[in-house]
Amino acid sequence: METPSRDNLIAAAIRATDHACAPYSGLRVGAALATSSGKVITGANVESVSYGLTCCAERIALFKALTDGERDFEAMALVSPASPAFTPCGACRQLLVEYAANAVLWCADSRNPSVIKSFTVKELMPEALISLPNHSKSS
Ligand code: THU
Repeated sequence: METPSRDNLIAAAIRATDHACAPYSGLRVGAALATSSGKVITGANVESVSYGLTCCAERIALFKALTDGERDFEAMALVSPASPAFTPCGACRQLLVEYAANAVLWCADSRNPSVIKSFTVKELMPEALISLPNHSKSS
């Protein structure tokens, strides 16, 4: 399978916003993660009346992918109805640097996806905590 193009990945993230659960903010955020084998796994934000339980689109996509057995990620598209477009929050940056450290990230306004900001995960999370002493990831 080929790696999806940047525009195709952004289009997948926009489609994912259809399934956002965002009754409190009204902001439908979508993410699409491309694996090295060319698969695309999408996610959207899920909000809770207990606000702190809300989960961002990026983490939903990443958790879906990881628990489907995916481990190698090349790119993530993130779309939000905002200008400038959202970039990942600190919690998502931490998980991205742990599990998708080599990915590039494309952020766009879902209403006008022609303006795209491009980052690497590593540049968004410098000096990250990625391991504990005397522990190695076992799976
Ligand atoms: N949100 C995301 O899904 N990803 C981001 O990068 C930033 C914020 C969601 C969380 C919440 O549902 C809404 O956007 C407003 O913060």
